[in-house]
Amino acid sequence: QIPVITIDGPTASGKGTVAHRVADKLGFHYLDSGALYRLTALSALRRGTDLADEHALAKLAEHLHCSFQGGDIILSHENVSDAIRAEEVGNTASKIATFPAVRHALVGLQLGFRKAPGLVADGRDMGSVIFPHAPLKVFLTASVAARAGRRYKQLIDKGFSAKMEDLLMDLQARDDRDTHRTIAPLVPAEGAHVLDTSEMNADEAVDQVLKWYAS
Ligand code: C5P
Repeated sequence: QIPVITIDGPTASGKGTVAHRVADKLGFHYLDSGALYRLTALSALRRGTDLADEHALAKLAEHLHCSFQGGDIILSHENVSDAIRAEEVGNTASKIATFPAVRHALVGLQLGFRKAPGLVADGRDMGSVIFPHAPLKVFLTASVAARAGRRYKQLIDKGFSAKMEDLLMDLQARDDRDTHRTIAPLVPAEGAHVLDTSEMNADEAVDQVLKWYAS
């Protein structure tokens, strides 16, 4: 069995950074499942797809021409690593992620990331839906204030402008949507270790995950 570590949690909980570093330390592959929803959202925004048309969005998701090359995310030959991090794309991703057909269309793509020697998968439903038998499941969380602060820094570092007030509101709206949707709601998977990183840096969180994996 190829081992999988799932790291789920709300927006800007630090799961991306932690999952990436854990994967590096173990020499495992890494799946950023949120990027797949973001890629679908970016495609839809660019094509002017009706954001209420579940069927059309699912088709886009099913036929995404994307690849992950080192740290870069490529969509139809274009490097969109930064473009998919824009707030508009994240908000659209969170809206289209409520459609069952869109989620279903991305399942096969996600399962395909499980390759030897192992996988670290980050998202919302990695431990609950996509890899329910993963030997280690982690649910990473942090206070809204801590997460808004991290998102602010991330956006400024990428050259986007950002307002703390707007970020707090967006985060709460997205949490609300992710937690209350009927399909794959954001809750800790059965058997998940919950890790609150409000007062923790990324290295400490990585160490904790590696300890759990070793035990
Ligand atoms: O993690 P990230 O913020 O990049 O994800 C973008 C959006 O995609 C989230 O707000 C969430 O609604 C959705 N998502 C999801 N299931 C996943 C990963 C992301 O519904 N496994």
